[in-house]
Amino acid sequence: MAKTFAQAQVVGLDLNAQKFSDAPNNFRFIQGDLSFTLPQFAGQADIIHCRCVAQHVKDPQALVHQLYKSLRPGGLLLLADGDWIVYDQHKKLVEPFKWWESNTTSSKSGESIALEEDSRGRSWYAGWLNFFGNLTRSKDYRPIEELVKGIEGWMILDSRRYLSPINWPGDGIENGEDLGKVLNINQRNFFLGAKEIALHAGLSREMIEIWGRHYEAEVESGHFYNVWYYVTAQK
Ligand SMILES: C[S@@+](CC[C@H](N)C(=O)[O-])C[C@H]1O[C@@H](n2cnc3c(N)ncnc32)[C@H](O)[C@@H]1O
Repeated sequence: MAKTFAQAQVVGLDLNAQKFSDAPNNFRFIQGDLSFTLPQFAGQADIIHCRCVAQHVKDPQALVHQLYKSLRPGGLLLLADGDWIVYDQHKKLVEPFKWWESNTTSSKSGESIALEEDSRGRSWYAGWLNFFGNLTRSKDYRPIEELVKGIEGWMILDSRRYLSPINWPGDGIENGEDLGKVLNINQRNFFLGAKEIALHAGLSREMIEIWGRHYEAEVESGHFYNVWYYVTAQK
């Protein structure tokens, strides 16, 4: 954004440190909790792009309120978030495998894992997403459009849902070929990155290994879509 709009001052905010190898001079990054970093910009921002963060903060409604306060009158909010559900090639919801409902052993003590095929025809890929959605999403989260509507003063200009294919171009999806490739890398990395969290949540290494095998195979040959939501609102 900073490169495209050289006349703008662009500020990135995140809890975690980020590396920017070739950031231009009109960009700076502030590391910290949004509830402390955003108030520094009260009434100052012309545009805020907040992507895939709202579901991770403790109080998503308070975040959207803070975003409102950070904008100038007339300023634009581009609020985006993903969901932990998966659609099949016919755009029907895929049933997730839920290990806690299965007989598959998942104890840390490494008892035998007998029932590898216990997914009952449900998707391991959708199951992993479902599992992580339940683990990481704030209990006070609501769809982003509702969060925006929860604050008086916004005018919603646009609200839409995007489907992005994984490892295939999708059916009638704009830029589907590229999206399919990006999501393929993204979702494979997601499994690897989430392994440690799964261990902490009580899954055994054996169970994660089995899950990983099925997950990989499904991403390789399945025709899935992930879903994303985008709301554009004006103050
Ligand atoms: C799914 S990632 C999205 C990252 C990035 N916005 C993007 O779209 O690629 C969620 C991000 O929210 C950040 N995050 C979670 N809680 C936060 C908070 N209270 N303050 C600032 N950042 C937070 C995490 O550090 C993480 O980078």
